[in-house]
Amino acid sequence: MAGKGPLTGTPALKIFLDEVEQLPAERQYGRVSSVLGMLVEVAGLDRVLSIGGRCDVIARGGRRVPCEAVGFRHGRALLLPFGSLQGVGLGCKAELTVAEPTVRPTDAWLGRVVNALGEPIDGKGPLPQGRDAYPLRAAPPPAHGRGRVGGKIDLGVRAINTFLTCCRGQRMGIFAGSGVGKSVLLSMLARYTAADVNVIGLIGERGREVQEWLEDELGPEGLARSVVVVATSDEPPPTRRQAAYLTMALSEYFRDRGRDVLCLMDSVTRFAMALREIGLAAGEPPASKGYTPSVFGELPQVLERAGPGTDKGSITGLFTVLVEGDDHNEPVADAVRGILDGHIVLERGIAERGRYPAINLLRSISRTMPACNSKAENELITQARRLLSTYEDMGELIRIGAYKAGSDPQVDQAIHYNPRLEAFLGQDKSERAGIEDGYAQLAAALDMPWQTGAATTEGNADAGANEAGGEASAQPAQQKPRPARRKARRNGGGGE
Ligand SMILES: Nc1ncnc2c1ncn2[C@@H]1O[C@H](COP(=O)(O)OP(=O)(O)O)[C@@H](O)[C@H]1O
Ligand SMILES: [Mg+2]
Repeated sequence: MAGKGPLTGTPALKIFLDEVEQLPAERQYGRVSSVLGMLVEVAGLDRVLSIGGRCDVIARGGRRVPCEAVGFRHGRALLLPFGSLQGVGLGCKAELTVAEPTVRPTDAWLGRVVNALGEPIDGKGPLPQGRDAYPLRAAPPPAHGRGRVGGKIDLGVRAINTFLTCCRGQRMGIFAGSGVGKSVLLSMLARYTAADVNVIGLIGERGREVQEWLEDELGPEGLARSVVVVATSDEPPPTRRQAAYLTMALSEYFRDRGRDVLCLMDSVTRFAMALREIGLAAGEPPASKGYTPSVFGELPQVLERAGPGTDKGSITGLFTVLVEGDDHNEPVADAVRGILDGHIVLERGIAERGRYPAINLLRSISRTMPACNSKAENELITQARRLLSTYEDMGELIRIGAYKAGSDPQVDQAIHYNPRLEAFLGQDKSERAGIEDGYAQLAAALDMPWQTGAATTEGNADAGANEAGGEASAQPAQQKPRPARRKARRNGGGGE
């Protein structure tokens, strides 16, 4: 009846009609037949539920606990709850609900904080609902229909902009042990990146940490251009998993509107842990480090949703990976490294010396990088990497005084430039560093000639001036004093 009226164009009516369409023709009920830990077994719905399907278990007292089917055993459906199971007992009713959870975002969601169900949790009132329903679980765009990664994206962090340049639509991992500065780095990226919109998923952190991060690190101006999805560590695993899906779905909404989206997820490890808990509860066998096989099937499904779109917009993804005990080869880190287009490794030793962000450049890589840079930029970075690597090789000998100055010109050079490189790499969290300035500052630090502006255009005329590569840096006469002074101030107690 309502299908053809003039009102169907209005969002409210469309939402209503969509919802009517989703309602089941009849109500279907089952009964709870067992509860074991988090796992609720329901009889009577096995013919109508499928994996991923939803139902509400009605606890004594009438509270509804949304649940999701994660398996079937002996003709019963196995469900995991999205909330507390308090009051759920044998014989409680379980009612089939909509099969596919969706979200209806609008641009008014910017500046807001939501939970895994897409409900506001920032006390700023209700969220307007948009016209289009975005499924929380969506497949990534087809590989052949996807654009290629776009031009460079200015991430506002000097060390990443220059040494680990990212392109629009690229996906990078930030790998580190706990307390090495992942969250602080993420907040810098959220505030300083030249993207249209941030979608930030905070998954599995403690509640207090989330509040502090939102207020102290992200701040009001960072929040204004972000939507933040939060699922804290005390929430059930399906909720934490759904927060990751929602983060991707919201990114897709903004991408489909032609925006360049920066999708930040902290952390993929906690998401993988939620998957592990779900897998184990459903009776999957544990494989490596207790992670079940489905975890490694699911990770690429989610991370692949970031990337270039098929049309205008893109999702640049930065995902943190917690490496427990600083073991960079644990299974989740390994799997994620294989899926992404590069990794940024933060190292405790560097943080302990006081240099933030504590990026170990020699262990980090951006796989799009040599191709997106000009010849001059690549030469500059190669030279800087060579100096860093020589210094690291000799570091031990230098520190204990076993290296005699003058015995190897390359090592002498590495020692000479090391404090300047350290100063260049350090960046206060309140400072934004533009991508163009980064190259000029690095060139100045290494006494290499540099022509601002000409740098980013392919095959620029300046390339010839850098032809000498490493040797050019041996001429201290080239030093440009202005950027060097700026760096000295910034360095503070950091550097060495
Ligand atoms: N850029 C930075 N500048 C100064 N201190 C930092 C910086 N990054 C991290 N820190 C210090 O390290 C601590 C832990 O950082 P955090 O980002 O919370 O670590 P993670 O998220 O890896 O556990 C912070 O509380 C802060 O004291
Ligand atoms: Mg953190």
